[in-house]
Amino acid sequence: MRSAPAPDRYAVIGHPVAHSLSPQIHAAFARETGQVLSYDTIDATTEQLAPSVQRFFVAGGCGLNVTVPHKQAALALSDTLSERATTAGAVNTLRREPDGRIHGDNTDGVGLVRDLTTNLNCALEGQRLLLLGAGGAARGVLAPLLALRPRVLVIANRTAARAQALAARFAPLGAVVGMGLEELDESPFDLILNATAASLAGELPPLPSGALGAASVCYDLAYGRDPTPFVRWARSSGCQRAYSGLGMLVEQAAESFFLWRGVRPRTAAVLAVLAGA
Ligand code: ATR
Repeated sequence: MRSAPAPDRYAVIGHPVAHSLSPQIHAAFARETGQVLSYDTIDATTEQLAPSVQRFFVAGGCGLNVTVPHKQAALALSDTLSERATTAGAVNTLRREPDGRIHGDNTDGVGLVRDLTTNLNCALEGQRLLLLGAGGAARGVLAPLLALRPRVLVIANRTAARAQALAARFAPLGAVVGMGLEELDESPFDLILNATAASLAGELPPLPSGALGAASVCYDLAYGRDPTPFVRWARSSGCQRAYSGLGMLVEQAAESFFLWRGVRPRTAAVLAVLAGA
């Protein structure tokens, strides 16, 4: 009797990575779509990243998700890049092509936009958006947000110059301005997105109370088992609709799965399970 072929191998690489939800998400997608694959975690420091990625693909691995802190470094490990990875300046998905070359893509932006527009029913056209932070996470979502044609997208950052530089870079794609957090006035925004790393340190970017209007939606690109400081702040300030980035995580994973397998998994059931966990 012949044994079944080994499943196609995938993994998420990061540091630290042990608590990543990606293995659980991709296992659920595989069950739902009937795809046979394995999905592991690879813990790699900055020095270990390039050799670990190479080892994985040389050993026959099919695809990797790349997470904190390696998304920018993964650009240089890609033989070819999608337009959205180039624009984002970061790679979160690697795929081995039939000719052995490694293709880099970025599904974070589309993941955020799908969660906002499809799952949470937020129409962003003509709206006032505030994006907190001007690092890699902010840069990765700017182009897909501007494609939804908000009235204005304000990037506010602790270091004003980084927000201004990012706004100048993305100005050809829509109405975007950059400023320091302290320059924000009391005008309310329709949507406030937290793309700072403040949550990771249990901190909160300082915001004027007027930025949050009666109908404002708040969204933290970060997620955790407990509500993030930003989500807690929003709720305690009267925001009725404050979300963590769990939906974005599931949606970016679905887009990566599609890039690898050519099949688009349904996300609602996985999201419900994780949200209730
Ligand atoms: P990432 O790739 O996660 O975006 P990054 O490129 O290091 O990481 O960027 C981190 C972002 O979070 C920056 O916008 C940073 O502000 P500065 O540019 O002023 O450093 C922001 N940030 C980190 N900690 C913060 C805090 N405690 N309060 C406000 N902003 C913070």
